Amino acid sequence: MPRYAQSSINEVSRRTSLSDVVSGYVKLKRNGTNYVGLCPFHKEKTGSFHVDEDKQLFYCFGCGAGGNVYDFIMRAENLDFVDALQFLAQRAGVTLEEERGTSKEKREEDSDRRRRILEMNRLAARHFYENLSTSGAEHARAYMERRGLSKRTAIKFGVGFAADGWDDLLNFLKESGYTQEEIVTAGLAVKNEKGRIYDKFRNRLMFPIIDVRGNVIAFGGRALQEGDPAKYMNSPETPVFHKGRNLFALNLAKSVGAKNGLILVEGYMDVIALYQAGIENVVAGLGTALTEEQARLLKRYAAQVYVCYDSDEAGQKAAQKAIGLLTEAGNTVKVISYQGAKDPDEYIQKKGVESFKALLSDSKESLEYQLLRLRQRYDIYDVSQKISFLTEAAKILAEIDSEMTREVYIKRLAAETDISTESIKTEISKLIYYKQKKKTRKEIYAENRTERLDTGFTAAVQQQSIATYKAERLLLNLLFFHRRVYEVMAERVESEWFTGAIHKSLLSKIMAYRAGEEEADASAFLVTLTDEQEKQTAASVLYESFVGEAVQAAKEAAEKLETAFLKKRAGELVREGKVKEANEILQRTKGRRG
Ligand code: UTP
Ligand code: MN
Repeated sequence: MPRYAQSSINEVSRRTSLSDVVSGYVKLKRNGTNYVGLCPFHKEKTGSFHVDEDKQLFYCFGCGAGGNVYDFIMRAENLDFVDALQFLAQRAGVTLEEERGTSKEKREEDSDRRRRILEMNRLAARHFYENLSTSGAEHARAYMERRGLSKRTAIKFGVGFAADGWDDLLNFLKESGYTQEEIVTAGLAVKNEKGRIYDKFRNRLMFPIIDVRGNVIAFGGRALQEGDPAKYMNSPETPVFHKGRNLFALNLAKSVGAKNGLILVEGYMDVIALYQAGIENVVAGLGTALTEEQARLLKRYAAQVYVCYDSDEAGQKAAQKAIGLLTEAGNTVKVISYQGAKDPDEYIQKKGVESFKALLSDSKESLEYQLLRLRQRYDIYDVSQKISFLTEAAKILAEIDSEMTREVYIKRLAAETDISTESIKTEISKLIYYKQKKKTRKEIYAENRTERLDTGFTAAVQQQSIATYKAERLLLNLLFFHRRVYEVMAERVESEWFTGAIHKSLLSKIMAYRAGEEEADASAFLVTLTDEQEKQTAASVLYESFVGEAVQAAKEAAEKLETAFLKKRAGELVREGKVKEANEILQRTKGRRG
């Protein structure tokens, strides 16, 4: 990763307006000096996503996401910091200068390392591809033919062959100028306990995994013999590959997703088979269950997601989970179900592409699919099973936002079970009522998320009252934004008054920042924080704006914290049997707040 000069970063920040950037993703409404909208990072009906243009900070009171414009772009575009910086620099028309100075070499090493891994992956992909036409690959070619994979498709996906030996790729890459360590770091070779290094992928059909920018970031390798204990082997996590953040074939499918939606399947071979049949809007996960990040990625590229998992029980269970995650991330989800084949690949081979297209246009709203699946599990001619079925169905319908949609399904359920629509409605209303009650609790919980991250929710509740917790946050906020508070309080505030490790650490960082900066710039301060939880806490603490007499408020907050601290200390002394000392301490807290 290149490191850019702080002056360049400042220039980008200066020329960028957070509300402007956010408006590209979220419809913002003015709310005083701030803006409010629906959070792009979680599903919600009322806007809890706030943007403070003065401070250049955003904060979501629903899910706790917060930060500056770089954090926003990192999340929204699924980029790391440097990519987000480049993205915003381009938008602002700033040419980024690379950092000069003593640590430059070290930083260039990092950036070099990533670049070299990507180069190595590309070379490896080419090598695997060339291997396919060698005499040692006859069985691999036969395998492809057996699975109906055409030459053209193989080229499109860059399919290749990892030779059946221990050092074919290793030698090739070494000759190309890479060290063994680099090759291991790239996940292309492994080192055993004895220190021997050998090819990770052996005698496998190789599928390169390519990101949306066209980089070869990893590989999946399929065993060529049935019964191999590892049917697929995937690259490990490397400096350029994070399984949960990418999708197989998104590079090919991304351009059509906005128009046709994206079909999400489980297997690499499902993607390839559909693509070969002319259905190009298909992606798959990377050997793990769908992640939240992948669900967000789909939201970015797809107007609609069609879930088309394997037809077996495991596949259907995984589909349920995926539907939940996708919906949560704000996707419109439909489900493609089929019979007579274990997966979409087999379906296409057996029944042809036209039949699959019919399935696609027949696909059901995820709600309808869920109810259908539920229905199959019960015998509704048995009274108690009928009741169980309706109770479960009511739970599903209680989750729906649209009255109208609910009405449609209530009517259907009523007809199907011969139960009045009124009783079904009553059941659902009850559930919605409880859900809302629970939701308020959940929302409170979400607001206290930073606290939970900070000290662990239970510990926080037990050890500190919410009031102390708030006083800590207020004091941090005032120290940061009010020069006067910093001047008056810097010498008085004690780190031991603060209960959580993150608050403590933020205190010392705010002090250090304040010692060097005349003007408080929250967004610039956030850039200096590297720990994700700390950054989230800082964003939520700094997002607040205090109106009133700052120095007075700071004094009161400090007193409250000191008192709470002393009382706790006295309690400890009592437990140790030092009652006299405890009483002396308590004397000092008399007549004080806290
Ligand atoms: P599948 O077994 O459904 O994959 O596993 P597939 O592509 O249909 O396989 P074949 O070639 O037709 O038999 C789904 C996905 O799970 C991951 C892979 O990403 C695979 O594509 N997987 C599966 C692994 O990572 N390791 C395994 O051993 C099996
Ligand atoms: Mn398959």
